[in-house]
Amino acid sequence: MKLAGKVALVTGSSQGIGQAIAIRLAEEGASVVINYRSHPEGAEDTLLKVRSAGGQCHAVDGFTVQADTGMVADVQRMIDESVDHFGTLDILVNNAGIEKNADFWQVTESDYDAVMNVNLKGVFFATQAFVKHRMAIQQPGKVINISSVHEELPFPHFAAYCASKGGLKMLTRNLSIELAPLGITINNVAPGAIETPINTKLLNDPEKLGALLKNIPLGRLGKPADVASIVVFLASSESDYVTGTTFFVDGGLLWNYQEQ
Ligand code: BGC
Repeated sequence: MKLAGKVALVTGSSQGIGQAIAIRLAEEGASVVINYRSHPEGAEDTLLKVRSAGGQCHAVDGFTVQADTGMVADVQRMIDESVDHFGTLDILVNNAGIEKNADFWQVTESDYDAVMNVNLKGVFFATQAFVKHRMAIQQPGKVINISSVHEELPFPHFAAYCASKGGLKMLTRNLSIELAPLGITINNVAPGAIETPINTKLLNDPEKLGALLKNIPLGRLGKPADVASIVVFLASSESDYVTGTTFFVDGGLLWNYQEQ
């Protein structure tokens, strides 16, 4: 087991990629704080799965925290409650993310704010609260941000989403330098098209799905578990010399330009 005795917080882990990450971390021996905003049932489901993934490893447990990661006061409370419950927090996985589909000229201020608050501002302040905790106990730590291929790749009709993920790329690069003296590493994992609730519409549209699959060299959508395995690596000591970079988990989507 790569994470025996560690404590990890995974934001947005009541479903999708976050849930898969929570379960994989538990399989590796970590106790997991499961964060949700509006689906307590999903968080309870993750909690049961975390406990059974921990299996015979009695040290593994889970704990659910309601928090809107788009709100600074909520993310600070989320980190405090995690530390209070488990006594420490070694790993922060900033996974919660949202997207809104609209023509650029139709985007409302409230949709722009919703996307930027969850995808960038919340990550910024959750990481800040995590770093303060690690500084207070003078211990190293691991931050893993779930970004997107769209930290590099344009995604028409998702301008705010792309801006948030591009911002996340620079935040990670910047913090890798600032946090290195504290022994804290920070990296991004950038999924491509993964079978999760964020893609429900796409999954139910055969035409769009077919077009997308043509752009994925490995010929299939990703699964949440494909993302979770790289998070385990980045959360473990096997990645101690890795910081400030992005790992793409996209079946080759990002670099697949083909002249017709
Ligand atoms: C988005 C998905 C999209 C995928 C590939 C992800 O970041 O959340 O909606 O299908 O990128 O474009």
